[in-house]
Amino acid sequence: MIQTLEWTQSGVVFIDQTKLPTEEVYVTCTTHQQVADAIRNMIVRGAPAIGVAAAMGIAIGVQKSKADNIGDLQTEFAGICENMGQTRPTAVNLFWAIRRMTEKFESLRSKTIPQIQQALIEESQRMHAEDIAANQAMGRHGATLMPASGGVLTHCNAGALATAGYGTALGVIRAAVEAGKKIHVYADETRPFLQGSRLTAWELMKDGIPTTVISDNMAGVMMQKGKIGAIVVGADRIAANGDVANKVGTYTVAVLAKENNIPFYVAAPMSTIDLQASDGSKIPIEQRNKREVTHIGGKQMTPDGVGIENPAFDVTPAKYVTAIITERGIARAPYNDSLESLHKKS
Ligand code: MRU
Repeated sequence: MIQTLEWTQSGVVFIDQTKLPTEEVYVTCTTHQQVADAIRNMIVRGAPAIGVAAAMGIAIGVQKSKADNIGDLQTEFAGICENMGQTRPTAVNLFWAIRRMTEKFESLRSKTIPQIQQALIEESQRMHAEDIAANQAMGRHGATLMPASGGVLTHCNAGALATAGYGTALGVIRAAVEAGKKIHVYADETRPFLQGSRLTAWELMKDGIPTTVISDNMAGVMMQKGKIGAIVVGADRIAANGDVANKVGTYTVAVLAKENNIPFYVAAPMSTIDLQASDGSKIPIEQRNKREVTHIGGKQMTPDGVGIENPAFDVTPAKYVTAIITERGIARAPYNDSLESLHKKS
């Protein structure tokens, strides 16, 4: 199984996703600042992986603290969380993880500092294990929606690399393949960061799942030619009304899916659903460095001085989403009701 991130005695170990697919390099972060930088620089990326990484980063920050009383530890803890919260704004799993670690810390106020340190490490490891279990459950629910055979298109990387393991959208595909379905994955390359061609293709090849990479602008013609039976993607944040923020380009795929009568599924854990955001307009969209667009592999691709945009995510309106697959079951429109009732179910 692909190890995206792991708590070890020497620190939090990440597979460096900026180096894949040509180099399989692991980096060890020994401070919370290093973990925050790994998230910011996308050594680790993908909403659920960012959440678990942040929790481990907070745990390592507390573990390394020199505070000798709870008041000082509390102040330090707040600073670590503040720093972690400034890494990437769109994936709500980051803020979910910070809140969960904060609630844990609050519940430990009567304990000794070594006990708090240990309990926070354990909490982050629990979140790691729960994420894998959630992905496997999502896989079981979602596999039933996949075609018995044929092409399934995905955008970005919502796989083992984007989670603690197994993946959300790729978890659904993995579970369908494990159930005997003959799926051929079409992976959008996903400009500008190439999560599809570099990461999705890499991990599916490792699993021996037949995969074809297409450039993003080929998705329409593949649908039109009948090569795609279903689409499944992940999400960075889902609003209460079912609007979905995911990797930029997802919206284009969803509109094309509707035009071609192809089901468009979103697979995401409950930690990605933000009931505080009433609709997609409330979701903050990260703008990334223009260099990701102007350069490919270090080579300049655009003339000096030209205008550049680089929003990392877009919002797909709920009307394009056939169903949302979670670990608690499948939600369908109207999403305000279905997501709310999944939220109440435990
Ligand atoms: O910018 P990234 O690579 O972190 O964006 C990742 C995505 O958009 C994924 O589709 C999403 O986080 C779901 S991952 C299970």
